[in-house]
Amino acid sequence: MHPKTLAIQAGYEKGKGEKSIAVPIYQTTAYKFDDTEHGANLFDLKELGNIYTRIMNPTTDVLEKRVALLEGGVAALASASGMASIFYAVANLAQSGENIIATTQLYGGTLNQFTHTLSRFGIEVRFFDGNHPQEARALIDSKSRALFFESLTNPSIDVPEIDTLAKIADEYGIVSIVDNTVATPAICRPIEHGVDVVVHSASKYMGGQGLAIGGVLVESARVAEKLRGNPRYPHFNTPDPSYHGLVYASAPLPPFVLRARLALLRDIGATLSPFDSWLFIQGIETLSVRMREHSLSAMKIAHYLQNHPKVQAVYYPGLESDKNHANAVKYFDEGMFSGLLSFEVGDFELAQKIADSVKIFTLATNIGDTKSIITHSASTTHRQVSAEGLKKAGVTPGLVRLSIGLEDYRDLIEDLAQAIDG
Ligand SMILES: Cc1ncc(COP(=O)(O)O)c(C=O)c1O
Repeated sequence: MHPKTLAIQAGYEKGKGEKSIAVPIYQTTAYKFDDTEHGANLFDLKELGNIYTRIMNPTTDVLEKRVALLEGGVAALASASGMASIFYAVANLAQSGENIIATTQLYGGTLNQFTHTLSRFGIEVRFFDGNHPQEARALIDSKSRALFFESLTNPSIDVPEIDTLAKIADEYGIVSIVDNTVATPAICRPIEHGVDVVVHSASKYMGGQGLAIGGVLVESARVAEKLRGNPRYPHFNTPDPSYHGLVYASAPLPPFVLRARLALLRDIGATLSPFDSWLFIQGIETLSVRMREHSLSAMKIAHYLQNHPKVQAVYYPGLESDKNHANAVKYFDEGMFSGLLSFEVGDFELAQKIADSVKIFTLATNIGDTKSIITHSASTTHRQVSAEGLKKAGVTPGLVRLSIGLEDYRDLIEDLAQAIDG
């Protein structure tokens, strides 16, 4: 099935239960066991079924199945935020004394988690320039456990060589993780280009209307093989004393998501609420239609900005002149390039003035909403990042980021014109 169909049909059997056509919200904390043997079988994974909503829920299960299929993966795990999904993906692979390799072109929150929080857990993050994938090689050693990057970077709007990075990870036997939040599976499916694990902030385009915070991680079919017998990942290949001696790599279920659910979600507990899962399910039904419209409007606005005398540069991979255009055409579907673009006006004050003067755009730190959003990264999302980190992340004082919503692009252009020229 194609992504548009999967987004509406996958993961839910309408003929079951009350035969509700819409996915029901199972707003419950726990589930009844038939008897103690049934409960024991569920805990032992001899029988699959619901135990407790911290680790599984039937509404969230539909979301997980749907996103897994949309991404071309075999299993998914939802969590309470994109940041939690990123943490689970990394913590599922690396522990204290080990390292992961990551591009510098990352969302500010991810940069913070990697630079500050992971280091307190003893996990070192070694950064390289995602525009030069071969640089990753020099950083990989026997303690490396993952290679992390974004398919369409926020806020620097780069499209790295996805298949090259995935191949480098394969060569060293480490798991590649890609954050596909900005591109979404409606435009790009990194697993098709060799990536092992995909993570998402569902809070953005998946939800689509800025209503809820959530995250998803997706496991590809190749992860099980990569983990099995791999000396980098003994915790997947030896009995887990916290789960009756379960050996994840030998289990009959996709091991990456299994361990993330049974060990990490169980112990850390950043669980997505069933209601928010349901909101994301509603959002995903229209994901393809919205991504096409976001892309069309963003392209019109990118062209407008490109011709504006006060604009020094426009970063949008849909522009033929953009340095990422070739990669975007290679990895993205049918001329869609998402709704995120940024432009450079050369100084902090002008960027601030534009952000403060728009009337339709909302000044906020979000992307992927129906409502257009303007962000001045240097004073908000990347505020905690050092000057050196800013430079590496491609964030300059005069950079303005736009998340193009679903309003009429002509109104958005008029709004930008009065803010830039006024
Ligand atoms: C690319 C990317 N990844 C991850 C996140 C974090 O997601 P969340 O806000 O759902 O925790 C964001 C948030 O803006 C993002 O843009």
